[in-house]
Amino acid sequence: MDTSGFDLLQTAVLLLDDAFCIQYANTAAEERLRASRKQLIGRPAQPLLAGLPSVLKTPLQGQLWAWLLEIPAHQAQRLDDLHQARFDQAAQRETLRNLAHEVRNPLAGLRAAAQLLEMELSRDDLREYTQVIVAESDRLAHLVDRLASSGPEAQARQTFNVHEICERVLALVSMEFGPGLTLIRDYDASVPDVHLDRDGLLQALLNVTRNGAQALMEGEPRQAPTLALRTRILHQPVLMHGQPRMGLLIAVVDNGPGIPPELHDKLFHPLVTGRAKGTGLGLSLAQDCLQHMGGLLEFDSRPGHTEFRLLLPLEAP
Ligand SMILES: Nc1ncnc2c1ncn2[C@@H]1O[C@H](COP(=O)(O)OP(=O)(O)OP(=O)(O)O)[C@@H](O)[C@H]1O
Ligand SMILES: [Mg+2]
Repeated sequence: MDTSGFDLLQTAVLLLDDAFCIQYANTAAEERLRASRKQLIGRPAQPLLAGLPSVLKTPLQGQLWAWLLEIPAHQAQRLDDLHQARFDQAAQRETLRNLAHEVRNPLAGLRAAAQLLEMELSRDDLREYTQVIVAESDRLAHLVDRLASSGPEAQARQTFNVHEICERVLALVSMEFGPGLTLIRDYDASVPDVHLDRDGLLQALLNVTRNGAQALMEGEPRQAPTLALRTRILHQPVLMHGQPRMGLLIAVVDNGPGIPPELHDKLFHPLVTGRAKGTGLGLSLAQDCLQHMGGLLEFDSRPGHTEFRLLLPLEAP
């Protein structure tokens, strides 16, 4: 086999002998495995491939080598990007969590002092000021509580039906936004029960679905506001920890105005909001929840069609 053409490929290519040791590596493989050809040749391939998604193995019969291995470039790049994004978001959330803990105590002190002061005041017009301090402290305390929550602590997994969660979320959204919002269920009945953090998934799905409903129902009235929940089984989705054999997709689709373009790049960062009363934590918390379950949250958006996809591994961890 002539191997010279392999160096032109973006796909990492390895040729192995029948003991699964590397006999040849192309340039893309050197980059992907972060080792020179000289270092790779003769080494067993298996330890190097652990954790890499979608390695294609082709047996080579009657050739000098026993196996041809390919690691597609776009998958590798996508996984690198995912890990980088996760790292950035985790670092940001950690900073904010620490800040929230620092702010909590002085805030409680401020509130208590304002209440004591209020008891000493005899004039009602002056009490209005202390009431502003108490009300605004409460608002800040709520924000701080949300910032401090959802640490990376282990979650309790349980076995449950995903469509029950979808129904819970739709019931809550329908109660909050009323009958003017059309809700569509597009469920795949063959989705099996999952073994995941039920509360985390409920929270993540609720955050995403409420955002869709808010985009449709707040602001200018729109024609036929519609929100759909779709479930599907996926084969070999690219997730945080590689590619499980099967995955679960829960898509939340709305026909609202779309996500403001200036938010696209930082949408999952905490405190990023496009709503006057938003805290910008809903999506960041949802992304956190899903990633802790080995899944992830992604989106596509244009005016008239916004789709958030909750992706989860379907196999038991
Ligand atoms: N389906 C959607 N359609 C249009 N814009 C959206 C949609 N989902 C999210 N957004 C935009 O993304 C922003 C961030 O959402 P996120 O849920 O993180 O925060 P929030 O809704 O502003 O506040 P919070 O959820 O903390 O109350 C929103 O403020 C909104 O501008
Ligand atoms: Mg939100």
